Amino acid sequence: MQTTYIMIKPDGVQRGLVGEIITRFENKGLRLVGLRQLIPSSKVAEEHYAIHKDRPFYSGLIKFITSGPVVAMAWTGVEAIKVARNIIGPTNGREASPGTIRGDLAMDIGHNIIHGSDGEETAKFELELWFPNGLSEWRRDAESQIYE
Ligand code: RTP
Ligand code: MG
Repeated sequence: MQTTYIMIKPDGVQRGLVGEIITRFENKGLRLVGLRQLIPSSKVAEEHYAIHKDRPFYSGLIKFITSGPVVAMAWTGVEAIKVARNIIGPTNGREASPGTIRGDLAMDIGHNIIHGSDGEETAKFELELWFPNGLSEWRRDAESQIYE
């Protein structure tokens, strides 16, 4: 089992795509173990994207990600990191295949709706950064919830 950090970016929240995106992850079979909405501070945004700090798009990226609320999520499943990246699709929405979140919903490389961790080390770092108070552990057991 792996847990991956997924974040709906300000464009996804502004466009009202939060429910649509969460539904795709739930339907796939991943388990939601962390969820919070917040307007990221510059400090957290800069730490999150530190790997890109020398890239030409970095300052625009920080400005964008701190421009409004994001939805920070943690999703668990077997090979969850790869599974989530496949659901999300490649960075540029215009090149992403239909069926992926970016392929279906995004038209831009920067405003591409969603972030997903790209490896185990990154996932650990990002989950600790965005969920400093930890995650909620639970297992599926619908029957025990249907009846009191
Ligand atoms: P993410 O980290 O957000 O899941 O996306 P990714 O792995 O597909 O892309 P990455 O290379 O890690 O880039 C991080 C984010 O930076 C923005 N970006 N803008 N204008 C540009 O050329 C450019 N390139 C990247 C995107 O928002 C990308 O998701
Ligand atoms: Mg990335």
